[in-house]
Amino acid sequence: MQYPQTRLRRNRSSQWLRNLVQETELSVNDLVYPIFVTPEKAAKDEIKTMSGVFRLGEKELVAEVKEAKKLGINAIAIFPVVPQKNKDEGGSYALDKNNFLLSRVKKIKDSVPDIGIICDVALDPYTTHGHDGVLNKKNQVDNDKTIEILCKQAVLLAEAGADFVAPSDMMDGRIGEIRDALDAESLIDTGIISYSVKYASSLYAPFRDAVGSSKSLKLKDKKTYQMNPANIREAILEAQLDVSEGADVIMVKPGIFYLDVISELKNHIDRPIFAYQVSAEYSMMKHASLAGIIDFDKVMLESLICFKRAGADAIFTYAAKHVAEILK
Ligand code: PBG
Repeated sequence: MQYPQTRLRRNRSSQWLRNLVQETELSVNDLVYPIFVTPEKAAKDEIKTMSGVFRLGEKELVAEVKEAKKLGINAIAIFPVVPQKNKDEGGSYALDKNNFLLSRVKKIKDSVPDIGIICDVALDPYTTHGHDGVLNKKNQVDNDKTIEILCKQAVLLAEAGADFVAPSDMMDGRIGEIRDALDAESLIDTGIISYSVKYASSLYAPFRDAVGSSKSLKLKDKKTYQMNPANIREAILEAQLDVSEGADVIMVKPGIFYLDVISELKNHIDRPIFAYQVSAEYSMMKHASLAGIIDFDKVMLESLICFKRAGADAIFTYAAKHVAEILK
């Protein structure tokens, strides 16, 4: 009988030893908590396709952010659920100085001052067609006209108190323009998290339900501006361009199917790499667990440590609060 000379199982033989040789750690410091907000003063409305995730009115939002802060979560990302009556072709409500998202940002800044606030820059929650920008005569998203609006949106969000603006629209050249627009208003401390590498994924479906943009999507998908899931060399170029235009952080989205992209960017790009565990990633785990197929807590923790192993510096996850509780 030939015995193995190298026994890798030796280092796995007890918990204390597994702890010592563990290569990657997950902590509450890695988590960003995305939250859906509504114009109501008080509301808590569960999103059917995302069990356990709610659209929150002002009162519930403030309570939720306080709880998140207490659990040690460093930052939230807030997404508006804009009533149909406020939507139009041009997404003009995004530039309404009295829109409820801006007042929520101020409210959070006042009531929970030391939590980071990240706000999406894109028009999809505000447009009747559900696209991230304005359409031209051919019904395509007009890159340069959209950028003009996004610059104004970013300035409003920054003035309201957003610590980071996060363009998720995938227009070419918008990072540089947004940086200039912020700087022109002396908003030099507002950072930019660029969704540089955002794929035209089918995993955003529950998010589109949540913000009510799914029914309206005129062109059915976003393939003319979001990336082809088959490509990775293009991802590096997207990220390099955004860095050269002034992005502070680079985002990859979705997450778990795209870990190779995270890892590639980590090796090529000298900026923090964040990843977004998107809505359907959450829903697949949650609803499979509700059907008794998997253990949500275990699968969620496994997925998050894999993000870390791939090289993500932080992860957006709808389970942030729950995970923070488990990690405590
Ligand atoms: C909008 C935006 C989307 C997400 C974040 N910002 C949806 C989309 O591009 O259609 C998706 C997030 C998720 O699925 O959790 N620009």
